[in-house]
Amino acid sequence: MTIRAWSDEYSSGIEQIDEQHKGLFQRINAFEEENDDTLTMKGAVDFLDGMMGLLEEHFAAEDALMEENDYPLMDVHKAFHNDLRAAILACMDSVKSFRSKSVQRAIPTAVSDREPYRQVLELLTGWLDHIVRDDTIIFHYCEHRDFNLAGAIYGRTCEILTMDNQLLGYGKIDLIENDDIEINYKHGRIPVKFNDVVKVSVIMQNQESCHFVSKVYLNKNSSVKLFRGAVIKTENDRAFYRISVLIDAVLKREGQEPMDIRIIDISAGGLLIATETVMEQGEEVLIQFMLEKTWFTEKCTVMRTFKKDTVIRHYGMKFAFDDGSSLTNLVGQLNTLQGKRNQKL
Ligand SMILES: [Fe+2]
Ligand SMILES: [Fe+2]
Repeated sequence: MTIRAWSDEYSSGIEQIDEQHKGLFQRINAFEEENDDTLTMKGAVDFLDGMMGLLEEHFAAEDALMEENDYPLMDVHKAFHNDLRAAILACMDSVKSFRSKSVQRAIPTAVSDREPYRQVLELLTGWLDHIVRDDTIIFHYCEHRDFNLAGAIYGRTCEILTMDNQLLGYGKIDLIENDDIEINYKHGRIPVKFNDVVKVSVIMQNQESCHFVSKVYLNKNSSVKLFRGAVIKTENDRAFYRISVLIDAVLKREGQEPMDIRIIDISAGGLLIATETVMEQGEEVLIQFMLEKTWFTEKCTVMRTFKKDTVIRHYGMKFAFDDGSSLTNLVGQLNTLQGKRNQKL
């Protein structure tokens, strides 16, 4: 079984770095396939030793790229690399200190004999996650360096999220000056502190979203100031914050009977719904649904349709909030729901 397959979306467009990344994917997947649970302690240590050499070469190439492009989160990324180095050394120590004698045989006899294999595999999976999650942010930044962030997002509503997409709060982009972005918000203090790294997701008037990562510079009671960050993605209509829920709802269109639909996914920016009816992109509809004992009636715009060849059609919808009150309410309900989901997990 492959841990994670290489995909072109992880490409940087820089040959040296892409070759290094592909090599890491290949070696790590091969390690998983070839060793299974027959790995010896020595095999694990030798493998990690070899990987350490390759990684040092690779980290040097990535450092050079970040320096060349003045990457604003360079120190954060270098800290990730240091964490990986430390994790390799810790894993080698842990594997070496493994006491079981049978683990040194080719075929282990007990579940505990698989421990070195399990530890190395966990570490390797972390490296691949780093490439997919953190390295691709550098590449997007380099690609979108000249993107006019100020012009695109000024005055827009945004979501502030943790790096793993938990919504911290939302606000309005209020000031963009050189390398500072100020986001205003009305409701309480957003739980971030100096130097936290956050994602910001902005829904723009041209119906696109802009996502970027930034470091927190100042958190006041009604605003948070960020260091200018890296634009990581521009894409149609969707925000980061998503919650997987199955909710029945009613769709109301002008001059038609209300129709049952299913809400598949909710974010603070919109909905993903499934229904049998045909709608056009740009059509405005009303959607009514209940979330945590609260009824929402939301005006939405159809942004995207897909799976057109089946009877059930899927639509991405963007909320058209008239004022902040409905969004406040919805975000509160989403947080409650998210909290309940996390408790269950
Ligand atoms: Fe990398
Ligand atoms: Fe990296």
